[in-house]
Amino acid sequence: MKKILPLTHGLRGTIKIPGDKSISHRSAILSSLATTPVEVTNFLAGADCLSTVACMKSLGATIERAGEKLLVTGNGLRGLREPENVLDAGNSGTTLRLLMGLCAPQKFLTTFTGDASLRRRPMARVIKPLAEMNASIVGRNGNRNLPITILPAEKNLRGIRYEMPVASAQVKSAILLAGLFANSPTTVVEPAPSRNHTEKMLSAFGAKIERHGNEITISPAESLHAPEKIFVPGDISSAAYWIVLATILDGSDVTIQNVGVNETRTGILDVLNQMGAMIELVNLRTSGGEKFADVHVVASKLRGVEFGGEMIPRLIDEIPALAVAAAFAHGTTVIRDVSELRVKESDRLAAIVDEFNKIAPDSFTATDDTLTIRGGREKIFANCNTRADHRMAMSLAIFGAAAKGVTLDDETCVDISYPNFFEELN
Ligand code: S3P
Repeated sequence: MKKILPLTHGLRGTIKIPGDKSISHRSAILSSLATTPVEVTNFLAGADCLSTVACMKSLGATIERAGEKLLVTGNGLRGLREPENVLDAGNSGTTLRLLMGLCAPQKFLTTFTGDASLRRRPMARVIKPLAEMNASIVGRNGNRNLPITILPAEKNLRGIRYEMPVASAQVKSAILLAGLFANSPTTVVEPAPSRNHTEKMLSAFGAKIERHGNEITISPAESLHAPEKIFVPGDISSAAYWIVLATILDGSDVTIQNVGVNETRTGILDVLNQMGAMIELVNLRTSGGEKFADVHVVASKLRGVEFGGEMIPRLIDEIPALAVAAAFAHGTTVIRDVSELRVKESDRLAAIVDEFNKIAPDSFTATDDTLTIRGGREKIFANCNTRADHRMAMSLAIFGAAAKGVTLDDETCVDISYPNFFEELN
């Protein structure tokens, strides 16, 4: 249990946030597919990325970790080995879905499992395109859920053209990774642009990958050529908590250093600026094709906004934090097209409505795919349930801190993406 007291003053100073979760996963996976050693710095040593590291080791890679530094040595694109045991993706959808794509073309058997949350999440969205590529995959519940077994591929997978029904970077990445091993190019069509870290990193590793509009095509490869070093920028999804807290707390003036600002991830900045926030990017730079900058935030008055559509994939993980901001705004905020929130680490639409309303009664309502937040209502002290969801825990923590305080039943889940979140909040 964790008690968060209300903050009596604004946030001031500089904060360094942990490495980006999405890029950390991809750095461990792709580095394991090369033959030369790769040093990864600012790697996120959170539970999700450590699940990926453990799985890649089971698949034959050599990975040494010292804090936020990884040294990865792979056995080449054709050098993965049959794991001796079931691969456990823990709480991590990214680990599971990307590695399903990687293992689908292999000539050996792989079985995946995960924690209670991951075992509930939908996997047919990955199994379906991989099966179209001729992979043999069986899963519980009519091929919908974990545990999932990928049978040894009898022949090379075939390249396909696949139109994804939902914008999902995990599904897209699974197909692209499988496409590396196919007998002809594979094209994925996204309904809206989702995060493109896989494409950027595959390109940095020498793979032939091209984007035309919403279509991404990968050519089969014989080998990958790793860079000697990968620097992982800070995670904008982790920065989001401080960006929102500094915006809504009077007197705040904060700089968050080294934040990844890839345009497929910066929806939170665009929406907050539209709401009247004062956020500026300074010291913009690039590493390995990924942009990062220092984010300077000053407290400001917010107004409600309405958005949905193509904006959603650009801020999907920041919606709980944005909902907190909206509760302090003047007027109503309407967020459309958010049904994907129902299949995250928890049902985040239900979690926001049930838990956030304890702090700001009658502020949050949801339909199947729309979240409505009435801003400016009274806030009270509340006992809340994090539902073992890291992003719910951190959003509830900043909500309570900016309101009248909160207790969280179980805060340990922040270890998934931000192990020292509460120290930083203190
Ligand atoms: C991620 C993609 C998103 C996101 C998740 C990380 C990734 O999931 O919510 O936290 O690293 O590819 P979906 O692909 O399911 O949208």
